[in-house]
Amino acid sequence: MTQHAIHVENLSKSYDDVLAVKSISFAVKPGETVALLGGNGAGKTTTISMLLGILLPTSGTIQVLGEDMVKDRFKVMHRLNFSSPYVDLPRRLTVKQNLMFFSKLYGIINAKERLMLLAEELNLLDLLNRPTGSLSAGQKTRVSVAKALINEPEILLLDEPTASLDPDTADWVRNYIKEYQKRNSAAILLASHNMTEVERICDNVLMMKYGKIVDQGAPDDLLHRYSRTNLEEVFLDIARNRKDSASKDGNDISRKPPHDDLEYGDI
Ligand SMILES: Nc1ncnc2c1ncn2[C@@H]1O[C@H](COP(=O)(O)OP(=O)(O)OP(=O)(O)O)[C@@H](O)[C@H]1O
Ligand SMILES: [Mg+2]
Repeated sequence: MTQHAIHVENLSKSYDDVLAVKSISFAVKPGETVALLGGNGAGKTTTISMLLGILLPTSGTIQVLGEDMVKDRFKVMHRLNFSSPYVDLPRRLTVKQNLMFFSKLYGIINAKERLMLLAEELNLLDLLNRPTGSLSAGQKTRVSVAKALINEPEILLLDEPTASLDPDTADWVRNYIKEYQKRNSAAILLASHNMTEVERICDNVLMMKYGKIVDQGAPDDLLHRYSRTNLEEVFLDIARNRKDSASKDGNDISRKPPHDDLEYGDI
């Protein structure tokens, strides 16, 4: 039987009176890319943070590479890594110092070679001596991807990996990550608001709403089931509770702006 890279059962997280993640269950196999899709506040970052061991779940279980992430996360943390545009690397350290710091943290042998290889591949050579805080958002994202791959992780958790990249660089970074995955059979879980990205690189999609997984499937299955031609339309159908084709079309500009994907007080 194939061991799951990630196996989550009945996972919930509450912050005071906000139940951000509500009893979600899913699995990611080695070599598979799974997307978390959902509106603002749906619980994607909270889920990723629990998988990383940054946040403790309120209830439920997380198995990562066969280990219980709540009890034994130190056994597997060196085999995962993550990238998020919302987690800043130390700003005053240069790019090189930052990457060296993380190589040491992960106990990389031949750290200098690994660092230079990633810098070359991610086009960071000219930035190595710049303070990380002085870089543009897109440059920081490329550094964050280099940091995420420094330990050749078996599991890569990506929170909006291409959020601040121009379309050309975003496309290049996606291909780079996919190549990395093929070479290493890595499992990838990514949260994204970029539907084209998800359609292109994900094998499976988990649709989150109000902290729950409300639908899931391969991108093609979802398109077929919702009789849609792209995932953005499927996303809008789910976000706006449109199930019947009669109510699907048209853009009602009298609608109020969407509120956060959240229900209060039902913990
Ligand atoms: N530290 C916190 N304290 C209190 N509430 C929090 C905290 N972090 C997140 N939340 C709440 O939990 C809910 C889920 O947030 P989360 O960041 O997981 O959503 P998300 O799906 O990543 O949204 P986005 O697409 O906007 O990034 C939101 O309502 C958010 O306000
Ligand atoms: Mg988020």
